[in-house]
Amino acid sequence: MAVLVTGGAGYIGSHTCVELLNEGEQIIIVDNFSNSKPEVLNQIRKITGKDFQFYQADLLNREAIKKIFSENAVESVIHFAGLKAVGESVSLPLRYYHNNITGTLILCEEMEAANVKRLVFSSSATVYGMNNPVPYREDMPTSATNPYGWTKVMIEQILKDLYTANPTFSISILRYFNPVGAHESGLIGEDPNGIPNNLTPYIAKVAKGELPKLTVYGDDYDTKDGTGVRDYIHVVDLAKGHLSALKKLRTETGVSIYNLGSGEGHSVLEVVRAYEKASGRPVPYVIGPRRAGDIASCYADPKKAEQELHWKATKSLYDMCLDSWRFTEKK
Ligand code: NAD
Ligand code: WQD
Repeated sequence: MAVLVTGGAGYIGSHTCVELLNEGEQIIIVDNFSNSKPEVLNQIRKITGKDFQFYQADLLNREAIKKIFSENAVESVIHFAGLKAVGESVSLPLRYYHNNITGTLILCEEMEAANVKRLVFSSSATVYGMNNPVPYREDMPTSATNPYGWTKVMIEQILKDLYTANPTFSISILRYFNPVGAHESGLIGEDPNGIPNNLTPYIAKVAKGELPKLTVYGDDYDTKDGTGVRDYIHVVDLAKGHLSALKKLRTETGVSIYNLGSGEGHSVLEVVRAYEKASGRPVPYVIGPRRAGDIASCYADPKKAEQELHWKATKSLYDMCLDSWRFTEKK
């Protein structure tokens, strides 16, 4: 029996595949490489010394997805595949709704047809919207400020409705905070195309000398040093959270939501300093205006995952920067 990993060639998916293989799980990856490269698959094999089945297919291609279920004994699905660039989702909303929502609908329909009832879904802290107080708890109201965020809010609702209609499903909705870092081997990590939007990939390029300086988006927030505060979580800790969720899914039906965050908030300037220390390189920056849609602080209350999944983040911000730098240097 195998775990089907959609989007397994991507940033979080590839790290999760490594952890699954290290735990002796049999996996099948499906990815269309819309935001990843085929080389990642060999890196996963290199790190783990293990092989797996791979399908280059789009979730929007129902026949291809049906074929995967008919050719394999799939026991559960971890669903990472989706488009994730917030800004792009504002200019291409239909593409985002179609890819993320229709892709998930086809996946769930084909799971149901193949009698596969265990699903782990990649949601995001973005569903807490602009108005909840920190730290965020799973029972707080959800909303979004951009089409990407709405796809997560809507898919969460779809999965809850699916469980209500068919209570033989076991569904785990994982709300990730800010994943950063890379595998300690330096063989896999986050490698966005073009100029990065997110903080640590941007800092990595500045430290490497590929970009001249970072622009800090605002230093007048009501936070410890005026810059934005986020809950950064090492991608390997995050990957391990999926194994804990899977373990629980195998023992019960239901739909559960978990924050996967460290519970700690770090400011932009703290990240800059940690990266400088880890890389031994300067990270020049200037203070710019606030970025539209940003909030002052976002961090998790991680207690529910700790109590029910027996999972918690273990790696520090410095570890995240060190591993990000090792990956960046090797590229
Ligand atoms: P990623 O872009 O690196 O990985 C997603 C993978 O899915 C890519 O390899 C892409 O090629 C594939 N994919 C996209 N659409 C597909 C489709 N229709 N069919 C087949 N493959 C498809 O992103 P990531 O950072 O690894 O994120 C994984 C998931 O976690 C996404 O759903 C994302 O929204 C969610 N998430 C990410 C973050 C983050 O900051 N990275 C935070 C919260 C939630
Ligand atoms: C972090 C902090 C910025 C870049 C985004 C998505 C969210 C989730 C994770 C998927 C903020 C500041 C950033 C820069 C800066 N993705 N910053 N200069 O915005 O918390 O979350 O990624 O679900 O949905 O919105 O992450 O890394 O972009 O920003 O000062 O060049 O760094 O203002 O305070 P964010 P981020």
